[in-house]
Order: sequence, then structure tokens, then C-alpha cells
Amino acid sequence: MRELIEAGVELSPRTGPLAPGPGLLIFDTLSAPLLEFVREASCGGVQRILAIAEEVAPLAEADCWTLLDAGAADVLPWRSGQQPAVVVRERLRRWHETERLLQAPEVAGRLVGHSPVWREALRRIVEVAAFTSDSVLITGESGTGKELLARLMHTLDRRTDKGAFVVLDCSAVTPTLSGSEFFGHERGAFTGAVAERDGAFALADKGTLFLDEVGELPLTLQAELLRVIEERTYKRVGSNTWRQTHFRLVCATNRDLEREQAEGRFRSDLYYRIAQWTCQVPPLRERVEDILLLAQHFLQQAPSHSGAVALEAAVRDYLVRRPYPGNVRELKHLVARMAGRHVGPGPITVGDIPNNERPSRDDHGRAWHVGDFETAIRRALGKGIGLKDISRNAEEIAIRLAVEDTGGNLQKAAAKLGVTDRALQMRRAARRQKLDT
Ligand SMILES: Nc1ncnc2c1ncn2[C@@H]1O[C@H](COP(=O)(O)OP(=O)(O)OP(=O)(O)O)[C@@H](O)[C@H]1O
Ligand SMILES: [Mg+2]
Repeated sequence: MRELIEAGVELSPRTGPLAPGPGLLIFDTLSAPLLEFVREASCGGVQRILAIAEEVAPLAEADCWTLLDAGAADVLPWRSGQQPAVVVRERLRRWHETERLLQAPEVAGRLVGHSPVWREALRRIVEVAAFTSDSVLITGESGTGKELLARLMHTLDRRTDKGAFVVLDCSAVTPTLSGSEFFGHERGAFTGAVAERDGAFALADKGTLFLDEVGELPLTLQAELLRVIEERTYKRVGSNTWRQTHFRLVCATNRDLEREQAEGRFRSDLYYRIAQWTCQVPPLRERVEDILLLAQHFLQQAPSHSGAVALEAAVRDYLVRRPYPGNVRELKHLVARMAGRHVGPGPITVGDIPNNERPSRDDHGRAWHVGDFETAIRRALGKGIGLKDISRNAEEIAIRLAVEDTGGNLQKAAAKLGVTDRALQMRRAARRQKLDT
């Protein structure tokens, strides 16, 4: 403790509910209550916790993984003689700086979502953008926000003489003209080249080059891009002069590039150059918690919105239950159409849902647990989580949602959950007690 304070780490012992943001956990032995505490305090990995094993208690390798699985962001053994306090201070500084960026208007105001999976993807992008100049490969289904994240990387780029954000859609480059699109050309380099022209590599100098749909690049072109991506030097078509360019490379694709490599459609050497970091953007069905937040955000943005940003309960229920094969883009378009139909200052109602979007009779009768609930349980089983933990988590989530939905009114929450007020209070108290021990 003394060393940490001397190193400049501000310590505030836990007195009440945990404040949001990075935290330290100093422990001697790993126990079930300790892991439960990590699970709760990290909110499934959303809040970063640095777990430090006291020097007297040597840390087993398996314990490190157990702590990470429970939600700890990192685990350090305290080894005096290796300046552990400075290591802790630097780690916390970086995490605080990342949190500050995540709260900044250019991030929080534009990229909406509070689900752990989304926050993890966003945090990774923010860190890579702000603290490295490495290339990033963003993967994910159509409409999940890949381009939005690529643009964010450029916004957060800290270069003082920052250049432009240049987009090149690899699915649209024609084989004959592709060389010129990427490398530029000299006057007279080919028929029709009446003037010299800069290509994407020159235009993105000091900025960001975003190669969208990179999985669509033909193999011949993949080979041609290797050198410029590795060494940042290239020649215009029709020229023998090497030119320099300095861009950050961000690529996106909805293809599985590892499979494409295995099947010979994507070069491995190119893959490793474009994917110093990778970020998998989760589809909307894996972050159902974000649907209403996104809907409110799009409603506020809709040009026709007449001050109505509230949604009737039936509309909320409909939005959360329906599938979104087109992910966030599909939700955005749907909300814009609902806002366009809406009249008056009141909340959006079921009549605002376009006719062809209304749920069919079958959907009304669809079992509540079919869909995302099953997906979550399948994921839990895949991770080796047993029935006891699954049931406990389902119960906790139901209680949390009921309390949130009723604005913290425990009586109403209990009624919603079909239990007595006392039973709800006892469950909450038992849980708090378990966490405090
Ligand atoms: N988290 C988010 N917050 C706010 N808007 C979002 C978010 N994610 C996506 N959007 C919006 O959804 C739309 C689709 O996003 P984007 O174009 O980035 O997706 P994409 O993954 O590149 O899609 P595609 O694979 O089809 O090219 C855009 O209008 C974008 O602004
Ligand atoms: Mg895109």
C-alpha cells in the first residue's frame, strides 16, 4: 500500500457501492467469494479490475486464468524489487485515459451501446487508435458498425499533422483500373490517362486508408499490395520512381478471412500485415441490451422527430424481440420509418410500425425463450458453465431488469416478478451479504 501511494496511485478503500472505472483488488488467496466479487465488480468485464496477488501468496498459473474468466482485466504478482507499484500506476493511468476517451462526446455521443460485448469491441478500437499506429482488421456481419468504428479510429488518431480519411471499397474496384485506384498513374500511362492522378495510397498520406470489403480483393491485387503495406513505398502506374506514404491502415470485411486463407482465396502474408490487431464487432442479436438505446438514439436523429423520443411498452417489446439480419443499419432504417409515420408529441405507438414490418400472428405466439435467450445459454454451455450458475445468472438478470423497469420501485418489481416484496428483498439482501463476505 505504502509503495503504491508513494508511486502516486490514489487509493480509496471500498466503503459503499463501487464507483465506476478501473479498480485494484489486492488478495492473498483465491476463493469463491473473491471470484464472485470480481464478477460483480467488473460487471462481466466492463469495468477493468487489476488483481494483485500479495507477495506472500505465490500465484498459480491456473488462478490467473480463473481470475480473467471471472472478469479481471489483468493479474499481477506483487514482486518487490521489480518496481511493482510503478507497473500498477502505469497500467491504471492507461486504463483511466481509455475510460476518459470512451466518455468523450466524439465516442459516447456517436457510438451507442452499453452491452459488455460492444463495450469490449469499442474499447479495443479506442486503445489501438489512441496509443498505436498499427493496422486493424475489423470483422463483423453487415450493418454492425464496422465503418463507423474505422472512422472513429481516424478521429482519435493523435498525429498533429493528420491527413485525410480515405475510403476504398475493394468490392467496387475494376480489375483493369484497380492499379490506378490504389497507386495513381502518370499522364499517358495507359489509354485514357490524359492527366496524372493520385491513388488511394497518396491521398491517405499522414491519414487513414480504409480498405472496405477487403475480403473481395482479387488474388493478383493482393500480391501487388504487399510491398506498400509493408514498407509504405509504391510507384505510380507508368512511373519508375518510388514514393513514400505514411498512412494507418484499417480494413473491414464480413468474410471469415481465416477460412478464406485456408481455402486459398486470401494470402496469409497479406492477412498478417493488415491484421496487427483484429476487432470482431458483435451482431445485434448478441447485444439485445443495446437495441432500445440505439432506437432512442436514432429517434433523436430522425429529421422528422417532433420531440417524441419515448416508445410505448408494446413498441419496445416489439423492437427487442424482432430479428435484425441487417443489424444496426436495419434498426436505424426501421426507426426512421416509424419516426416518419409518427404524429404528435406523444410516444411512438404500435400504429407507427410500418405495415410490412408488423409481427405476424405466429410471432405473437412465439415462445419467449426462443432466440437470444437460447443463444446466451448455448454460449454459457460452450464455456463450461453449469446449470447452477446459469440459473443464478438468469435470476439476477430478471431481478435487475424488473427493478430497472419499475424505476427502483421494489413493490412493483416484485409484482412483475411474481414474488412477494419480502421474497425480493430477501434475495437482494442475501446477494449483497454474499458479496460482502
Ligand atoms: N453503435 C452504433 N451507434 C450508432 N450508430 C451505429 C452504431 N453501429 C452502427 N451504426 C449505424 O448503423 C449504420 C451501419 O453502420 P456501418 O455502415 O458502420 O456498418 P458496416 O458494418 O460497415 O456495414 P456493411 O458491412 O454493410 O458495410 C450506419 O448508419 C451507422 O452510423
Ligand atoms: Mg461498411
